[in-house]
Amino acid sequence: MVHRVRSGRWPYHPFGAALLPHVTTTTATTSDPSTPPALTGSGATPFVSVDLTAVGSAYRTLRRALPGVALHYAVKANPARPVLEVLARHGASWDVASPGEIDAVLEVDPRPERLSYGNTVKKAADIAHAHARGVQQFALDSDAELDKLVALAPGATLLVRLATSGAGADWALGHKFGCPEVQAARLLARAVAHGHPVGVCFHVGSQQHDPHAWDEPLAAAGRLRNALRAMGADLDVVDLGGGFPALGTVDPVPVAQRFGEGIRASLRRHLGDDLPALMAEPGRFLVADAGFLETEVVLVTERAGVRWVYVDAGLFSGLAETMGEAIRYRITAHRGRASLTGAVAPVVVAGPTCDSLDVLYRRHRPALPVSLRPGDRLRFRAAGAYTTTCSSVGFNGFRPLREQFR
Ligand SMILES: Cc1ncc(COP(=O)(O)O)c(C=O)c1O
Repeated sequence: MVHRVRSGRWPYHPFGAALLPHVTTTTATTSDPSTPPALTGSGATPFVSVDLTAVGSAYRTLRRALPGVALHYAVKANPARPVLEVLARHGASWDVASPGEIDAVLEVDPRPERLSYGNTVKKAADIAHAHARGVQQFALDSDAELDKLVALAPGATLLVRLATSGAGADWALGHKFGCPEVQAARLLARAVAHGHPVGVCFHVGSQQHDPHAWDEPLAAAGRLRNALRAMGADLDVVDLGGGFPALGTVDPVPVAQRFGEGIRASLRRHLGDDLPALMAEPGRFLVADAGFLETEVVLVTERAGVRWVYVDAGLFSGLAETMGEAIRYRITAHRGRASLTGAVAPVVVAGPTCDSLDVLYRRHRPALPVSLRPGDRLRFRAAGAYTTTCSSVGFNGFRPLREQFR
């Protein structure tokens, strides 16, 4: 599981109210045209349903927004084979974090040169496994990791990961990964001295709302390239990382374009026309909007004057990103084949386990229909990323989240 701690929420939100608030429709009960009838109200919950066509379309959208940038799908977001297959058909490359992900990708795309091992913390045995399978690019952010890579991955391209502030993102990554620019300069020089092609990588934080968040790390990339050139070397790769946001109901095309324009402007400003090879590692953008997570309401009750709704999925069954209430899923309510509408009121939403940590939203209470009752369904939207693999194997005897494809 990718464990990320939330940064301060960015005050400005380019998508307006569409993504963050928990919204339910407020008109009369109607059938939900966005849901295939076969899935509405049927199938044992909890499950995630992923629309594979939407995955392909998200890939094409980002491709158009970032011309000249190789898209390495961050497999951790959703490693299901049908997802990998559809992205392989679209020509994706891959960002992998473990031997398991390497092996899964090579089963659908047997070209190891298309894989980048983006995890900066790797066991020696895992580096050896990757190298033996033909992986030629690895990330690092410390001297100790560089020592391992020099010994175990001779000739590989080494990407030094820069720390970022994470400002503007719902999940910052910079406190755990990346190094300061001065250390990056030293690591790059050491890697070059050992005969490795080099690059820089960074991650501006997941569910990033600011299209200009790439500017600061790209400015650092420009300075690091100058330093390398001064010593007769060069920067071979710049990896823009992930962070492109899931959008909920917002049309992804103009938003992707805005991010693409922001990034292209920063590239021009800091690296000029003579660009190194460019890549990015999108995860959430490619799969989140394509999926929803369906739960069943188990109990509606009142505690100390507050309405609580318990559902059959929680922190331990796929909704780990609600930790700290960082990712605020849009939730819709359903009864049978119809959307449940009418008057709404704020509720606390909690998962089914006996752990008191298993409360999803206590501060930011979603407004849900007051008519909600056990047996109704709550659907968490834009949940195709970081859900199925973040499910425990059976805490409290609840079975892991299932995944279906359409
Ligand atoms: C190294 C790396 N690359 C890419 C990603 C994907 O990020 P996102 O899903 O925000 O696009 C992550 C996510 O944690 C990551 O750790």
